[in-house]
Amino acid sequence: MNLFDVYPLFDVNIVKGKGCHVWDDKGNEYLDLYGGHAVISIGHAHPHYVESISHQVATLGFYSNSVINRLQQQLAERLGKISGYDDYSLFLINSGAEANENALKLASFHTGRTRVISFNKAFHGRTSLAVEATDNPKIIAPINANGHITYLPLNDIEAMQTELAKRDVCAVIIEGIQGVGGIRIPSDDFLHALRDACTKYGTILILDEIQSGYGRTGKFFAHQHSGIRPDIITIAKGIGNGFPMAGVLISPMFKAVCGQLGTTFGGNHLACSAALAVIDVFEQEHLVENAAKVGNYLLEQLKQVKGIKEVRGKGLMIGLEFEEPIKELRLRLLHEQYVFTGASGTNVLRLLPPLCLSMEEAKEFINRLNKVL
Ligand SMILES: Cc1ncc(COP(=O)(O)O)c(C=O)c1O
Repeated sequence: MNLFDVYPLFDVNIVKGKGCHVWDDKGNEYLDLYGGHAVISIGHAHPHYVESISHQVATLGFYSNSVINRLQQQLAERLGKISGYDDYSLFLINSGAEANENALKLASFHTGRTRVISFNKAFHGRTSLAVEATDNPKIIAPINANGHITYLPLNDIEAMQTELAKRDVCAVIIEGIQGVGGIRIPSDDFLHALRDACTKYGTILILDEIQSGYGRTGKFFAHQHSGIRPDIITIAKGIGNGFPMAGVLISPMFKAVCGQLGTTFGGNHLACSAALAVIDVFEQEHLVENAAKVGNYLLEQLKQVKGIKEVRGKGLMIGLEFEEPIKELRLRLLHEQYVFTGASGTNVLRLLPPLCLSMEEAKEFINRLNKVL
């Protein structure tokens, strides 16, 4: 059997990782400024993480959601504290798309409405509602195009208020910082106006923090830079440091209805042990603070580098926009300088390193970038 050929692949076989470095099968060492697409939060093969999931799988890897799972309860409590949302409830699933799917369902159950506002260049995943809310016609199949979504320009307060004033919008879904869309940041004014309009017109505000959350921007959630509080927050990527897991943080205004949501794998024992180990390391190694410190340094330094049109981002979620396509630059970084980076569209280089990136590693990245510019 062949693999279903949907991914454009780099010709590299990564076989090992440690901290912010990965190795290929030929023994070449790479600096990882991509974090496996923003997934590696505490670093590759962290010893505490390895020990925690090894112990759990040797004890009990899985049992279904039909029994008490104390690890889920511990995770909800610890996540509530570290994120500043201890009055919210947690629903666990396995992927970012599923988190958004459940968030949108909850909003619709709650309001009885079916219209959703999303934004130009948004990415929310590939399942039915999540992909419909994604502004990319190429990945929306005819069966997903059900007319639920109105896309608006990001940061256009008037357009947003006009739509919400119709009082028929179930939810607004917005990324803390748009990742796939090119590291585009909702302004504080926009988020405040959005929060007010959602409250006024009975619309649920969903913050997709799947890429921008879990400490990446130097606060636990990107929207916390503006001080607003959404009704629902979706998380994935960094929560399990590579173990597939995701969550929906749900405000106390929602009452849980037995049987309304559910999943086989979500919140299983092994996933919870991974997520608990991640929170241990966040606390012990002050990774949110590190993302702010090293991220600010990188942002400042990158603004001095010649040849970059614009540097955007917060913490360790950074986009470097170039005048010309970056395909070649990215390949040279990989094959000549042994640096992994991400991309958004054709002209933006996207940096999403593990949150444990050190100042030395940040400096080393700038050195290597300068060599290919
Ligand atoms: C902002 C955002 N939302 C949702 C998703 C979908 O997550 P997953 O691929 O885990 O379904 C992603 C993935 O890149 C994302 O960046």
